[in-house]
Amino acid sequence: MSVRREDCLDVSTVAPQAADDGMAAGRTVRELTRDERTGGDHLLIEYPAGWVHPEVGYLTAGQDIYVIEGELAIGSHHLTTGCYVYIPEGVSFGPMASPGGARAIVFHNKEHRFQKSVQSAPGADEQAMVGPIETWTIPWKDPMTDIVKKSTYLDPATGKGTRPPGVLTKTLRHDQKPNSREMVALTSLAPGFIDPGTEHHPHDECLYLLAGDAYIGLTYDHKNIDRKEDLVLRRDHYISRPPGIRHGPVCTQTGALWLLYMNDMYTGIYNEVPGWQERVRRHLSTERYK
Ligand SMILES: [Fe+2]
Repeated sequence: MSVRREDCLDVSTVAPQAADDGMAAGRTVRELTRDERTGGDHLLIEYPAGWVHPEVGYLTAGQDIYVIEGELAIGSHHLTTGCYVYIPEGVSFGPMASPGGARAIVFHNKEHRFQKSVQSAPGADEQAMVGPIETWTIPWKDPMTDIVKKSTYLDPATGKGTRPPGVLTKTLRHDQKPNSREMVALTSLAPGFIDPGTEHHPHDECLYLLAGDAYIGLTYDHKNIDRKEDLVLRRDHYISRPPGIRHGPVCTQTGALWLLYMNDMYTGIYNEVPGWQERVRRHLSTERYK
């Protein structure tokens, strides 16, 4: 997956399109990002109440599905808000249904079409399937033990690389294949969390704000040509960053829960931001607890 840059996409402003992937009609999709080279995408899919896809088959791409509202039946599994499943390319699934309607964030790693088949495609890696997971049942971890390969932010007390305090993560999927190190995770910022500098990464980083609020003081490319300031994100806002996009300082007043996609383990290159205190103070003074 190689993503386009979205700095602060209010997903509610993206026009819904009828899904056209060979599955039963009725769903709508909002495109968050798309890899023009592979046809991979990140979508918000909305399932109307009573939607049924009666066939068993597989997709021609891997699919991460995270339910953010409602209920979704996949075969004998019943997924509700906060449930996650990864179905690899070619692995059969179905039938599907959404009796009461649902919304789900779905990632595809390349162009996808549904192929009707009671069996998985030849060579499909059924062992790579993940879940379904009721994500509230797995423990939060220190990101340094869970998703971070390298961070140049230094702990003021120890001088060692770390992340600013107040972040927790839950890894949902982490590829260990020669051609893929993709990660999908939940990450939580505690109320009042502040990351005082900018960071950038040598990998893609995509974030969907599931709940809470977030402020990003600066976002710019390495030449500082396309520059945004004072971005405020609410629930159902989305970010996708190709490698090298600087972002920060970051803070949140009520806390933030994100669904995170990266195409490699986290490597954060940290830089100081002069005047970050005034930016953060100005923003937080205008916010309300909620
Ligand atoms: Fe980042």
